[in-house]
Amino acid sequence: MNVQKVNAARAALDYVEDGMTLGLGSGSTAEEFVRLLGTQMAQEPIQVRGIATSRGTEQVARDAGVPLISIEQADKIDLTVDGADEVDGRFRLVKGGGACLLREKIVASASDLMVVIIDETKLVETLGAFPLPVEVDPFGFTITAKKVFDALRRAGVPRPDVSLRRLGDGLEPLVTDGGHYILDCSCGEIPDPERAAAALIEIPGVIDHGLFLDIARVVIVGEDDGARAME
Ligand code: A5P
Repeated sequence: MNVQKVNAARAALDYVEDGMTLGLGSGSTAEEFVRLLGTQMAQEPIQVRGIATSRGTEQVARDAGVPLISIEQADKIDLTVDGADEVDGRFRLVKGGGACLLREKIVASASDLMVVIIDETKLVETLGAFPLPVEVDPFGFTITAKKVFDALRRAGVPRPDVSLRRLGDGLEPLVTDGGHYILDCSCGEIPDPERAAAALIEIPGVIDHGLFLDIARVVIVGEDDGARAME
């Protein structure tokens, strides 16, 4: 496991307080946070409840002894801790590399605070080097893909490349926990993320996209010998 990811995950424990309801993100860094949380709960008398953003995280939480509730059981979500694929200087994120962006966004945007945990490689000047995941309904996805291409062009991306995410090297489409497909959009650069987000979400068939704008409030960057929190 990447030491920077572990250090970022460990630093996020400082934001956890007894009695909190926590959104538990997905991906390797978020899973490390869940494991460390389980270890802390076994050593100290703190009680928290987690809401998992994917089946993968649900399993990790069960193995780590972190109690889970469904999102419908939560009156409020105090804190969400999650990873990201890219983070820019304004705390705008690209997420969804693990195909969990929809549940991640539902949980993060319902939380009082979202803390993002990343290694240094995720910090970028301009979003877009990482292909932007767009979650779509399987019905009519080829039509939706053309509209996604057009929307990104209109938002200033010169040559977007939109492709259906498949399982491993096979031909089968990847299906998300919510039963949708993912279109990976190679953009190179996304010059105006707000414009791209607004254009994408208007398309019939688009369920959501991996641009998380104005949601994260704290970014913890793991380093080789510690972590720095930016607020
Ligand atoms: C999951 O869909 C993603 O949003 C992850 O949070 C993101 O891909 C970061 O993953 P790692 O922590 O594994 O780098």
